[in-house]
Amino acid sequence: MLFDRIKPLSAILAAAEKKSLHRSLGAFQLMLFGIGCIIGTGIFVLTSAGAQKAGPGLMLAFVIAGLVCIVAALCYAEIASMIPVAGSAYTYSYATMGELLAWTVGWALVLEFAIAAAAVSVGWSGYFAGTILNDTFDIALPAWLTAGPLALGGAPGGLINLPAMVIALLITGLLIIGTSESAKVNAVLVLIKVSALTAFIALTLSSSEFDTDRFNPFLPAGIFGGWGTGVGAVGAAATIFFAYVGFDAVATAAEETKDPQRNVPIGLVGSLLFCTLFYILVAGGAIGTIGGQPIMGPNGVPFPAGSAELARQCALPQYADALVCSNEALAHVLRQIGFGTVGKMVGYAAILALPSVILVLLYAQTRIFFVMSRDGLLPDGLSKVHPKWKTPYVVTAITGAVVAVAAAFFPVGALADIANAGTLYAFGMVAIAVMVLRRTGPGVKRSFRVPGLVVIGPLTVAGCLFLFLNLPRDAMLVLPIWTLIGLVIYFGYSRSRSHMARGIVEVPETEIDTIEPDIPGIADRGRD
Ligand code: ALA
Repeated sequence: MLFDRIKPLSAILAAAEKKSLHRSLGAFQLMLFGIGCIIGTGIFVLTSAGAQKAGPGLMLAFVIAGLVCIVAALCYAEIASMIPVAGSAYTYSYATMGELLAWTVGWALVLEFAIAAAAVSVGWSGYFAGTILNDTFDIALPAWLTAGPLALGGAPGGLINLPAMVIALLITGLLIIGTSESAKVNAVLVLIKVSALTAFIALTLSSSEFDTDRFNPFLPAGIFGGWGTGVGAVGAAATIFFAYVGFDAVATAAEETKDPQRNVPIGLVGSLLFCTLFYILVAGGAIGTIGGQPIMGPNGVPFPAGSAELARQCALPQYADALVCSNEALAHVLRQIGFGTVGKMVGYAAILALPSVILVLLYAQTRIFFVMSRDGLLPDGLSKVHPKWKTPYVVTAITGAVVAVAAAFFPVGALADIANAGTLYAFGMVAIAVMVLRRTGPGVKRSFRVPGLVVIGPLTVAGCLFLFLNLPRDAMLVLPIWTLIGLVIYFGYSRSRSHMARGIVEVPETEIDTIEPDIPGIADRGRD
């Protein structure tokens, strides 16, 4: 039987009970963690790709993606408050839909976390090369060192994105030696990011360059650009969905929240609403001041963001200052409207804050692999914990190397789209798991229940499917191909070695559970 290996909820809950974390978080702290994980490359960099897909309709795209994330966040919060153990969507699926589907979810989470970490690394590289090297030190790195090859959607003359690769490896190194991020550091980084975005919004909206004519046409590529094209407002929504990814890591803090029924939705939905509002204003400010119309191909459809064709167009002098061609969208806009110094500050803010997003994503990835290996589905060696640093160094090093290679060769837009494909699958499965668990485990304690799940659950699944179908065709195809590779590994290796198959059903407590915090950024939670 293919779907019969469901991990008993009681075994998972028994392990969770041993952790018995202190309920110390309020709604405001949850919001801070949320914003810390959420704001990153999506708004600082992908604003360009979003504008190339939708023009001013990018503002509508932020609303669409934000709404899907809000309903998904509620589902995450319920299941996380019920099954408060490591492994996120993978563990939730294991307890509800069985090992095979859980494997596909865990496998898809690689796209969410590892590929997203690569995307944020590439985003960081754009600001590093632009703001630090070019703008501050007047050093222009050669094209072949700052982008992947044109054949993969990089820039003309590009070969390898060295800064992106280096930052990915540096963060990997930090994770191996056990660096985490305290709640205080997270709060400071949130303050830096929010101040940068606030300055951007204030300066652009009040600028004399701001002209409402630039919003016309509002939807140059329509609302629906067509399935698989990845353009139009919903195509842009599917891409800038990336700007919201990360809140799921925070949902796992539900078990540590005071009065969770009240605080979890306020914290999660609050941070998503806060980001949505900021994102819309940032997009409005950028487009209203320097314009954000897409560069159209000969057939009147925007060139695909991250494509070789667009990169060639962007190399032409007439597009040198176009928003849709910039690698450091926000700093670029401010420079264009005469606020070069503030532009530099915004660039520094991105350079300081994006590495913490990479850290959270890479950390989450190693955690998922770790749990899968502990369940016997991946080789034991992967969950080896370093004797001195107490970190899963083998899996961290392998993951970091793969992330660094992806960051070195692929453009940010393509990486973000692929990450979104995996994330949307995982979010949809979590919503299904929540609905299943209401039937199979009605009596299990939930410290947070989704209000109106009959509407919110199906809405989440439909929203995820809808955004997935509006991704560019290539990104969409990656998910089934990746899943197929996963299934070959599952049936060739994991299925027979699974601890469930061998009758080992307890979830062992290991060193890592007690030594590592669940989420970087809230390492010292409960202690302040
Ligand atoms: N939401 C995160 C970002 O935009 C992943 O960087």
